[in-house]
Amino acid sequence: MSIRTAILDGVATIEIARPEKKNALTVAMYEAMAEALHAASADGAVRAVLITGQPGIFTSGNDIEDFVSRPPGQGSDSADSPVFRFMRALLDCEKPVVVAVTGAAIGIGTTMLLHCDLVYVSDEARLVMPFVGLGLVPEFASSLVVPQLMGHAKAAEKLLLGDPFGPDEAVACGIANAVLPAGEVVAHARRVAERFNALPPGAVREAKQLMRAPHREAVLKAIRTEGEIFSRRLRSPEAIEAFQAFFQKRRPDFSRFQ
Ligand code: COA
Repeated sequence: MSIRTAILDGVATIEIARPEKKNALTVAMYEAMAEALHAASADGAVRAVLITGQPGIFTSGNDIEDFVSRPPGQGSDSADSPVFRFMRALLDCEKPVVVAVTGAAIGIGTTMLLHCDLVYVSDEARLVMPFVGLGLVPEFASSLVVPQLMGHAKAAEKLLLGDPFGPDEAVACGIANAVLPAGEVVAHARRVAERFNALPPGAVREAKQLMRAPHREAVLKAIRTEGEIFSRRLRSPEAIEAFQAFFQKRRPDFSRFQ
């Protein structure tokens, strides 16, 4: 099983555990994470959710083999696909979501952080949104939220050039709360999650809703619009070249495209 879930001391943990593939997220893993988030929302004994990865790798993003063999549907189908159900479950999660970014956070590994509540990053982590270099476009409302957080010019480095950035920059631009030594990030994030055991859950729930509500419609709209273009681009010759290059362990060649 590549998603491990557990509930301990009021904290529902979702651990991404597929280290042999650098924690790449498959359709089944999105399903499992969506289910765990819904279950956490509904479980009165859960006060917070903790998402973690493996030492050195948070997630390498969507499984590229799945991009080729099981791409999300287009049009109205796309809303039902597991990745969109995961996005929706994270947006709808009533409990605070705390993240320990244990290492590289690629693609949705970075964009999911935009929708979590408290984010702690390993000092060895690298964040990157390499969508354009894969012939794709930003997802999970990152085309909306990243420019809002850091301004258009910095966002263009991350979203158009696909430049990686480190944990200090993630904190400086407001994606993350703090940088921790790699060996301490999970324990720290868990301690923060456990603090919700001492807080009144109804007030926490309503405060979280209030913080998210003003942007919710715009975020959902961005996810829908990006999703339509993303799904179409997954089938584009540019993306196919990028995926083939990844599996052939070579640099992609986009010189023939206009
Ligand atoms: N999807 C599918 N398989 C992936 C993957 C992904 N996103 N990321 C890594 N893997 C697989 C590799 O194909 C390799 O499989 P193999 O052992 O069968 O050849 C294995 O995981 C180890 O990856 P490798 O690239 O050899 O490790 P590395 O330490 O050299 O590099 C990464 C690690 C994460 C930097 C690199 O794997 C990477 O760039 N992955 C793709 C990230 C990406 O573009 N994701 C999509 C975002 S939209």
